[in-house]
Amino acid sequence: MIVVAGASGTLGPLLVPLLVGRGEPVRVVTRDPDAASRKVSGVELIAGDVTRPADARRAVEGARVVVSAITGFASPAGLQAVDIEGNRILADAAARAGVEQFVLLSVAQATADHPMALFRAKFAAEQAIRASGIGWTIIRPTAYLETWLGLIGGPLVAKGKTLVFGRGRNPINFVSALDVARLVDLAIADRSFRGKVVEMPGPENLTLDQLVAIIESAYGRSGRVSHTPRAAMRLLSIALGPIDRMRAGQIAAALVMDTRDMTMDGRAVRAAHPSIPMTTAASVAERLFGATAGHVVQPATT
Ligand SMILES: NC(=O)c1ccc[n+]([C@@H]2O[C@H](COP(=O)([O-])OP(=O)(O)OC[C@H]3O[C@@H](n4cnc5c(N)ncnc54)[C@H](OP(=O)(O)O)[C@@H]3O)[C@@H](O)[C@H]2O)c1
Repeated sequence: MIVVAGASGTLGPLLVPLLVGRGEPVRVVTRDPDAASRKVSGVELIAGDVTRPADARRAVEGARVVVSAITGFASPAGLQAVDIEGNRILADAAARAGVEQFVLLSVAQATADHPMALFRAKFAAEQAIRASGIGWTIIRPTAYLETWLGLIGGPLVAKGKTLVFGRGRNPINFVSALDVARLVDLAIADRSFRGKVVEMPGPENLTLDQLVAIIESAYGRSGRVSHTPRAAMRLLSIALGPIDRMRAGQIAAALVMDTRDMTMDGRAVRAAHPSIPMTTAASVAERLFGATAGHVVQPATT
């Protein structure tokens, strides 16, 4: 039995079909089984919030492998409760239940002193998994193309305009969540991944403005693009802090992504995993926004 927590997000619906295809039963633990059932099929769905110890214990019963793709980055629950505590609780439950392998979705270049809270939280989660006594594999992807193309391209397609946080000129390494899903699947099948931290960059370093151009090319239409000035982002993240911790954290993260070196030599790192394709931004944009994606072209609005 393979148990997946966090299967209802961006990565999960790409990963679950690969795991189901192995023939081993797959159980998905989710806070909202109705919503999750629209995203994944062929699995046992159980209701639970893995940040609650009793739910985590029930979720991992009878499991051979547990995959944690949870994050509180876009949730009011937050990074401390979900990424740090949630993963610790889930790994402890898995270790007690005799689970063979815990696969943690972390982030590339996570460190204890990274300027982005998400990266610090993932580093703390990694330490908790290592300390839990369970067999582990840590996968460290860079930013998902599907997430970022969706964030920027969604409004562009729906309203003919979009917003880029910051100048949009800082190169960032992006990877397709589909390739990450393939790596997770491989890490479960291949025992040599046990006890390894695996960096998972994509083949391209691209600016957010380049992502806009790639979306426009796939969609076949340009939109209006505005940029949020960095000074406004700094002020917003401070002002929002006491009232909306999640949005304040997301804006602070966007500021780091606009200013810090976020590049990686993806092709060199990925040479270690030649069986995993190196999906490009253009190909993900085509899947999301190309003619076959079925979007209706909207006129640009003011
Ligand atoms: N997106 C990226 O650019 C990126 C880059 C590098 C690494 N990662 C990591 O890859 C993994 C998958 O990312 P993703 O983008 O697919 O995630 P996502 O779309 O943000 O989905 C987050 C998942 O977390 C689950 N979750 C479980 N307990 C939660 C709780 N108490 N509060 C909030 N959410 C909870 C949600 O499941 P339910 O709602 O069904 O309970 C949801 O499926 C995550 O660990 C993420 O940190 C993501």
